[in-house]
Amino acid sequence: MKKRIALFASGKGSNAQAIIDYLTDSEQLEVALIATNNKNAGVLEIAQAAHIPALIFSREEFTNESFFMEQLKEVDYIVLAGFLWLIPAYLIKHFPDKIINIHPALLPKYGGRGMYGMKVHQTVCENKEAETGITIHFVNEHYDEGGIVLQEKVAVSADDTPEVIAQKVHMLEHYFYPRCIEKLWNN
Ligand code: GRF
Repeated sequence: MKKRIALFASGKGSNAQAIIDYLTDSEQLEVALIATNNKNAGVLEIAQAAHIPALIFSREEFTNESFFMEQLKEVDYIVLAGFLWLIPAYLIKHFPDKIINIHPALLPKYGGRGMYGMKVHQTVCENKEAETGITIHFVNEHYDEGGIVLQEKVAVSADDTPEVIAQKVHMLEHYFYPRCIEKLWNN
């Protein structure tokens, strides 16, 4: 039996796409559910094209433990890929060390509430950092604070715009996130 992953994403879903593509031929892991709080999320088109069931949920549903656990009853692992809501304590209890997130910077720098998307890359640019990167980490009850699984770096040039930095970071994400998932959870 393959282990079943639920991908939580609220945005474009380019990481979700990279993970789905990479795991297509896996004999041990599969993306079994796409979950989102945003009915307009690009990731829903990706789910449809890949024939993966999607779950769109409200904040009330997300905080309702019995309702939400019922939706996840066949799920083994949770992967956050551009999901912005804080993960409730009950989910962390039910999935101990089985929820990971990707952050588009080298935590603990440029993390925490409000630090997401282009805001991260703009701040890296303003601070004239010589490098940035990605952090894949376990999820606990605080934003961006769980144990680090993997960090990968990329150089930032003096003339890189936030858009160029974002592109560099996305390339790292798309390469390393699927491989990291496989390494963590393949038996
Ligand atoms: C990624 O940069 C990820 O690090 C962050 O949200 C972004 C999602 O991008 N957590 P996408 O929707 O996968 O394109």
